Amino acid sequence: MRVLKTVAAMQLACKEIRAVTRSLGFVPTMGALHEGHLSLVRRARAECDSVVASIFVNPLQFGPTEDFDQYPRTFEADCAVLEGEGVEILFAPSVGEMYPSGAVTTVTVAGVGDRLDGASRPGHFTGVATVVAKLLHVVSADRAYFGKKDAAQLAVLRTMVRDLNFPVELVGCGIVRDGDGLALSSRNRYLSAVDRGRALVLRRVLLDMMWRISGGTWASDALYAAGLEILASEPHVRLDYLAIVDADTLLPVKEAKPGTLVAIAAYVGTTRLIDNFVVGSGDEL
Ligand code: PAF
Repeated sequence: MRVLKTVAAMQLACKEIRAVTRSLGFVPTMGALHEGHLSLVRRARAECDSVVASIFVNPLQFGPTEDFDQYPRTFEADCAVLEGEGVEILFAPSVGEMYPSGAVTTVTVAGVGDRLDGASRPGHFTGVATVVAKLLHVVSADRAYFGKKDAAQLAVLRTMVRDLNFPVELVGCGIVRDGDGLALSSRNRYLSAVDRGRALVLRRVLLDMMWRISGGTWASDALYAAGLEILASEPHVRLDYLAIVDADTLLPVKEAKPGTLVAIAAYVGTTRLIDNFVVGSGDEL
């Protein structure tokens, strides 16, 4: 696996790959890789002739009080894993390479970018959309792979790609969970053993709501009430949002129906975790 650090080198290498293969898949990451990321790489490998990845901890998507400095960085181990999974090229630019001094252009996805995580983390999705727009220009892949755990991120990026006519297909890949059901996240490693147990309440909330929906309770008010009651059983977990929304616009719906996104974000200690399912999609919790 080649590791490239400059935009110019990566652009050239991707152009060369595209000249000799039919399809190029791209897996953008911030590193600290886990099985969730690997499932993206494996899906890309199954669907594309060549696969490239990126590792870039993007400062633009972290708020001033968030964990940019502490965000786990495991570059050597990540490289070994990506190489083992058959990634051809890893793009690993510095912050200065991605945002040279004087760079002032950002991408804001109005509306959808201000909902769910965008409401609790102002500016977050401008940071995400900006870096993903840049990465998609550098790589010019046919398909780019993202985890469905970040459901709001996927909605924002789908809107950006649609509105700005990016010639790329975004592929959402299912959430990967640990044996106890906790959705895999690079931030899980921040959790103490006690907090890890507490974090399981996020899944219990969603599971309860999913069961109620399959039992015929569609009204969002009733579903919120049930979910909040489960959450109250774990007083150390602080809710950020519990949302029953249209999966594309992220606007609240009065009644859940097939395709509705049910999403939760909560703080366990100082660690913010998210999880979700889409009604009727076969998502497993
Ligand atoms: O989901 C992530 O890991 C990041 O938000 C992404 C898409 C790599 C952009 O920095």
